[in-house]
Amino acid sequence: MSCNSPKNSVDCGFDDLRPKIEQALQEACEFGSGCPPRLSEAMSYALLAPGKRLRPALVMMAAECCGGSVDAVIPAAVAVEMIHAYSLIHDDLPAMDDDDLRRGRPTVHIKFDEATAILAGDALLTEAFHHLSKHIKSPEKAIAAVRSLSVAAGASRLVGGQADDLAAERTPSLAEPNRPRIAGCQEETVLTDEPSVDPRLAHLESIHRRKTGALFSVSLDLGAILVDANSEQRDLLGSYAAAIGLAFQVVDDLLDYTAEASTLGKKTGKDAARGKLTYPGVMGLEQAQRKAQELIASARGGAEKFGDSGRRLRLLADFVLERSH
Ligand code: IPE
Ligand code: IPE
Ligand code: MG
Ligand code: MG
Ligand code: MG
Repeated sequence: MSCNSPKNSVDCGFDDLRPKIEQALQEACEFGSGCPPRLSEAMSYALLAPGKRLRPALVMMAAECCGGSVDAVIPAAVAVEMIHAYSLIHDDLPAMDDDDLRRGRPTVHIKFDEATAILAGDALLTEAFHHLSKHIKSPEKAIAAVRSLSVAAGASRLVGGQADDLAAERTPSLAEPNRPRIAGCQEETVLTDEPSVDPRLAHLESIHRRKTGALFSVSLDLGAILVDANSEQRDLLGSYAAAIGLAFQVVDDLLDYTAEASTLGKKTGKDAARGKLTYPGVMGLEQAQRKAQELIASARGGAEKFGDSGRRLRLLADFVLERSH
């Protein structure tokens, strides 16, 4: 799926990298002779489905704009897409968002069955770390990459954000404005006493930064780590990542309200129906759109500090705001 397709007229800045990403994902779908064919089929179904591949592209873009080669970071590009694919399989399960359409196709538990979907997710998550440790030849870099990715995918980031996303959905009192504390939410996300800050907004931002932003951030950081970027480059990428990761989920929330399932490749109108805590739900559509614009302006500003080599990052930031799928 090209970003610059009939569905999207915006250049995402990496269509030329896409064949490398797709080929590496294909090659990664050899899961060993002990892997039952049905499990292998479910894993490949999820990993090779036509996703936008933004996270692998970010790994490669980070490497390139820090002066390294995109080929050197392909194992990390594959690993982040494996984590992403697993997170989508589990996100769609009946116990989570209960979705039956993903990337324009039946979700894994519909196409196969629930147990196979759970196991395919488990296996892709594990396989991501195997892939990193096998294909990154420098032991120091492999350990640094495994450590960063395990934090981003783990209990205090992606999984924690998913847990709080579901908890918020099941806590109707979160709909009350200006509630000072949210029972059960972790200390970091608990809320300021400042009366001017809507506590739902602080909690919402924390959820989105963890469930989605963390994987964007680590994608850029892995690219940087593997090409020995300096600390200034890593800091600049970190600021870009924080802005684009949050913007991406704000836009995802907006598209759930405004897009058509046939364009988006997944069901729409589900967030409101499930009582999810979302940016349009808390702020309204216009304010949420403005929030996304501000975040993208900030990401663009960060990318500009890389000069010419930040071109792809700038295009990707524009794509995240303008995308229709
Ligand atoms: C969907 O991510 C999950 C969210 C974090 C909102 P993408 O929109 O990047 O999914 P694919 O990979 O293109 O299907
Ligand atoms: C998903 O967020 C985040 C992760 C999978 C970690 P959403 O639940 O909003 O994603 P979609 O809308 O189903 O793609
Ligand atoms: Mg979800
Ligand atoms: Mg979902
Ligand atoms: Mg969503």
